[in-house]
Amino acid sequence: MGAIVEWTPDPRELADLELLLSGAFQPLTGFLGHEDLHAVHERGTLADGGPWPAPVTLHLPGDVETAPGDEITLLDPEGMPLATLTVTEREPDGLVAGPVKGLGTPEHGPFARLRRTPAELRQELAGRPALAVTMRGPLDDLSEIVATAKELGAVIVLLPLSYGEAGPAVVRAALRAKDRLPADTIVVSVPLAPRDEPEIDLELREHVATAYGAAEHLAGPEPVSIPGPPHRRGLVVFFTGLSGSGKSTIARGLRDSLLELGSRTVSYLDGDVVRHLLSKGLTFSKSDRDLNIRRIGFVAAETARHGGLAICAPIAPYAATRAEVREMVESVGADFLLVHVATPLAECERRDRKGLYAKARAGLIPEFTGISDPYEEPDDADLVIDTTHISIEAAVTQVLGTLQSGGWVR
Ligand code: ADX
Repeated sequence: MGAIVEWTPDPRELADLELLLSGAFQPLTGFLGHEDLHAVHERGTLADGGPWPAPVTLHLPGDVETAPGDEITLLDPEGMPLATLTVTEREPDGLVAGPVKGLGTPEHGPFARLRRTPAELRQELAGRPALAVTMRGPLDDLSEIVATAKELGAVIVLLPLSYGEAGPAVVRAALRAKDRLPADTIVVSVPLAPRDEPEIDLELREHVATAYGAAEHLAGPEPVSIPGPPHRRGLVVFFTGLSGSGKSTIARGLRDSLLELGSRTVSYLDGDVVRHLLSKGLTFSKSDRDLNIRRIGFVAAETARHGGLAICAPIAPYAATRAEVREMVESVGADFLLVHVATPLAECERRDRKGLYAKARAGLIPEFTGISDPYEEPDDADLVIDTTHISIEAAVTQVLGTLQSGGWVR
């Protein structure tokens, strides 16, 4: 494979890229390399000694070929070119460093009209001092802000940190606050992803506020996240297990019971059904199975994003791919329940409802799960059911019971 020329960074990296390009991360002009990262980690400075609190990094998979001197076009998820990166460093762990240059692509997304570069905002302020307030949630008490602004004779600039799923809600909170603040208050949406360590996060917010020309910075209160009641939250019930373990039958029974109860709508993504359309044409190679499971996970997460309930029942033999799906679902604020239908291979083979095990043993089906292809037993299952000695009804009742006791179904 030749050196790559295009790459779509992940959402966090794209958010950092936007701030690099806008100047909000000044003095940074690109993604950090090894020496700078070492200095940030050790001393909270860049290699040249200038203060800088947080890593700002880009990773490409280790097997993707690129080397110093290459120019990579960075794309947004829809394939729009956003910037070029001139590679100055490539580490074995996947890290890629180098300066970035914007391609002038217009911003889009919710509240794109409320983005400003620091230079644009400073021009708008025309020399008036500013009090910046960075926020990740609603501002319940405005009196400190009003008093501080008055004391400084400053314009209030609300900087909602609009990264991720909660981004639009934070901007709406800023617009609501603006209505209760002096008329010249300005709202600028800044896609700053949160950093894990609170002190680093705060320091980075201060840097960004300063870049935006703030004479003084106040950090809004941390948001109290109140996930909705479980019966309104999205849920993915993901069955995994060998072919013939009973997972499809239990999954179907669960779907029917939920429809009979009538309190939730259900999307049903059975392995065999998915392979008729969504994953038609895929084989049973490791990479096709992974793609199949990612597609199922994608649809399930989209369902759950709107508070829906999705039931999935593929074999899903690989632990890492199941973990990816859990992550996809949880990242949209929904819950994920892994049900391992742990009927042993000997029992699945004894039943051999579809006659596939006999064929697999005869060498007629290659890469057959449990025979000539691996099944990685989950160690993170929320429920384990072996159907050797229990009826399908009993198994369905067990899953339904878990949904009821967890509050997902009333
Ligand atoms: S997965 O591995 O990608 O999760 P999936 O659940 O979609 O598998 O499909 C499994 C079904 O395909 C089995 O129930 C069986 O009917 C059929 N099948 C055909 N070939 C294979 C194979 N090589 N391994 C496992 N299942 C197979």
